[in-house]
Amino acid sequence: MSGHGTPIPMTSQKCGPLKGTANVPGDKSISHRALILGAMAVGETKITGLLEGQDVLDTGRAMQALGAEVVRHGAGEWSVHGVGVGGFREPEQVIDCGNSGTGVRLIMGAVATHGFATTFTGDASLNKRPMGRVTDPLALFGAQAVGRSGERLPLTLVGTDTPTPVEYATPVPSAQVKSAVLLAGINAPGKTVVVEKEATRDHTERMLRGFGAEVVVEEVAEGHKITLTGQPELTPQEVAVPRDPSSAAFPVCAALIVEGSEILVPGVSQNTTRNGLYTTLVEMGADITFENPREEGGEPVADLRVRHSQLKGIEVPPERAASMIDEYPILSVVAAFAEGKTVMTGVKELRVKECDRIDAMARGLEACGVTVDETEDSMTVHGCGPDGVAGGATCATFIDHRIAMSFLVCGMASQEPISVDDGSPIATSFPVFEKLMRGLGAQISSQGD
Ligand code: S3P
Repeated sequence: MSGHGTPIPMTSQKCGPLKGTANVPGDKSISHRALILGAMAVGETKITGLLEGQDVLDTGRAMQALGAEVVRHGAGEWSVHGVGVGGFREPEQVIDCGNSGTGVRLIMGAVATHGFATTFTGDASLNKRPMGRVTDPLALFGAQAVGRSGERLPLTLVGTDTPTPVEYATPVPSAQVKSAVLLAGINAPGKTVVVEKEATRDHTERMLRGFGAEVVVEEVAEGHKITLTGQPELTPQEVAVPRDPSSAAFPVCAALIVEGSEILVPGVSQNTTRNGLYTTLVEMGADITFENPREEGGEPVADLRVRHSQLKGIEVPPERAASMIDEYPILSVVAAFAEGKTVMTGVKELRVKECDRIDAMARGLEACGVTVDETEDSMTVHGCGPDGVAGGATCATFIDHRIAMSFLVCGMASQEPISVDDGSPIATSFPVFEKLMRGLGAQISSQGD
């Protein structure tokens, strides 16, 4: 079964101004999808800028186990020789998705409409996360799942080779659930329909179109309706993965709270299903200029010039949650350095991420001297002002990369250093985090440095 490596304690301390350019790695969501759709097309898909984080590498290995050929040619340069729609073969071994909820849920969708069984597992974090949200709609196609209690991994999904197309309204705002249904729908005859109340990240829809599938998106009374025509011929593509706005959030937020900082973060997505954090930061008073707007890898992007700013607490509207769901941990750090309170509502999905992110941030921030109120669905951070966060604590990261990076950023501007018990999960999404942040002037050290 998947393990989780030796913990790597890390420490971050107050530093001088952050300066320079932060070239963050490729988008994690888009990287997973490029490998999976590449594996479902006939012929060679070429990918540049692929995120070489552990989560994505695990998805690449899974595609190989299902019969595709996945080859690395150089840094971020990969090719996938796909097997065509309906062409996956039964894997010989258990598919281990490590820490990745996106990996496992999307792959479950992709295999659900193939007539064989696949067993999935992951690390201690992933094996606690709910899979019923994906296996329920996949059952409508005819796939059957048997997992541990609460539909948790390890889990075996027996796919069907006589799928019926499905019309499904997602009960939670989740791009993973939407994508799992669409990926299953690729190998189902007829039209598969997903309706979501609030629009979640739309990379699957965009990339499906790019590979030649027919995808129609409409605004209807119930929300956002996506219709996919099944069993298309997917044509291999050249996919240029844009940079990850969720990774960009860490240097951006660090520059906002470290006095005297000014940095440039090129190529940050302005896709409205991903950019809620940036809207929120501007409302808090952040000095961010959006330069050189353009398109990269099919996504609207801009270069962000970010300067240290005096920030004020705000109420983040709940309807914005889906567009910044991965950014609440780092936003709660920024909120700690603002004047006044920041209220985040409609965020209960944070409780089922790599860890319970509301709880993890509240406990860690409290240990650093910040007052946090939480309810099942909300988190309120009482700002301490630019110099008011005490720090001086060791925060638990619960095998969660974003919790680890958030507290390391917090330590860059707190009075006393902040340590994390385990920074090793950072490698799942942002393997060059420490190097990149040090290059800007951060003082981060890992055990063993
Ligand atoms: C993702 C969707 C989100 C997000 C995750 C990536 C994706 O999860 O938190 O990091 O690539 O589809 P949910 O679908 O659970 O909201």
